[in-house]
Amino acid sequence: MSSLFDSLEAGQLALSNRVVMAPLTRNRAPGAVPNALMAEYYAQRASAGLLISEGTAITQQGQGYAHVPGLYGEDQLQGWKQVTDAVHAAGGRIVTQLWHVGRISHDSLQPDGQPPVAPSAMAAKSKTYLIDEATGQGQFSATTLPRALDAAELPGIAHDFAEAARNAVDHAGFDGVELHAANGYLLDQFLKTGANQRDDEWGGSIANRCRLALECTRAVAKAIGGGRTGIRLSPVTPANDIHDTDPQPLFEHLLRQLATLDLAYVHVIEGSTGGPREIAERPFDYAALKNAYREAGGKGAWMVNNGYDRALALAAVESGQADLVAFGRAFISNPDLVRRLREDLPFNAWDSRRFYGGGAQGYTDYALADAG
Ligand SMILES: Cc1cc2nc3c(=O)[nH]c(=O)nc-3n(C[C@H](O)[C@H](O)[C@H](O)COP(=O)(O)O)c2cc1C
Repeated sequence: MSSLFDSLEAGQLALSNRVVMAPLTRNRAPGAVPNALMAEYYAQRASAGLLISEGTAITQQGQGYAHVPGLYGEDQLQGWKQVTDAVHAAGGRIVTQLWHVGRISHDSLQPDGQPPVAPSAMAAKSKTYLIDEATGQGQFSATTLPRALDAAELPGIAHDFAEAARNAVDHAGFDGVELHAANGYLLDQFLKTGANQRDDEWGGSIANRCRLALECTRAVAKAIGGGRTGIRLSPVTPANDIHDTDPQPLFEHLLRQLATLDLAYVHVIEGSTGGPREIAERPFDYAALKNAYREAGGKGAWMVNNGYDRALALAAVESGQADLVAFGRAFISNPDLVRRLREDLPFNAWDSRRFYGGGAQGYTDYALADAG
């Protein structure tokens, strides 16, 4: 029987325990360049078995929120290098989350003020986050109506994911990458009927809707090795106005295909991201999903997330339901979360007013548990 505190080899990632820091956007990278404050924040949390960086844009077209870091410029890669060096010096492992937001963006963030891109020209009823450069004030704003990507542009998106992965590993010092195919962003938009109404080979059937996520994952695995590659999925989340008419067969098909790519891990958000783990009108069988992956030969670690507390996390690993458990908000307010879980110490509460944007407050100033 495995424990949450046992080590694990996930592909080429050698992890000292099964507790993972989930990707958390914090909007503290002005100019999309990571900085010393971010290095301090991640290094504080390096006792996690694995840190997943905040969503990081693979290109400027992939940007959807103010002050989100990128992986497409030399200064961004140098900025990340100080983060990964600090994490490694503190004994941690860190992968970056490769992000293309698709339609969840605003033209003011896009190259030359162009509209954002998406599978189909349908606006999401959802918000993005902008910061007024003059006043530094943040505000939520409606997304801009996107334009539909041309089929001829889609191989370029897979290329952009691969290029960002290569940059992340070769120049920014990451141990690997996670493709963000969850939460209603570009790859999830292609997967699901609620955002993909294409009638070419990138839409319609399940196989067609899975094509972009698979092409991008294949390209990344080829660029840096499947053993350093993970993918994040959210079969039923309503985040960012996304839905699918029949998610179970869609995701089982996707997982059977992913099984052939020899990935380090598959990361599944169960239920509504940051909300209920079960959604009455969107039922989903996660055990069947995992079975589909394993029966197709998938050997990657199975990572779960969403609303896990100590008891649920211990039980998930002990029962074999999961190999790794990712914690989001608890890691924001508890840099020493692994110790608190191990010793059953109480958690600090998080301050959601300081999630997005700002400086050290509500970021690097959460207290450690008293030395026992
Ligand atoms: C402030 C904040 C930022 C987030 N940013 C991201 C992100 O960049 N990428 C992503 O996949 N999920 C993101 N999420 C979702 C979390 O990774 C996680 O799925 C969610 O918080 C549920 O896990 P929890 O119950 O352990 O907090 C974010 C959540 C929060 C609260």
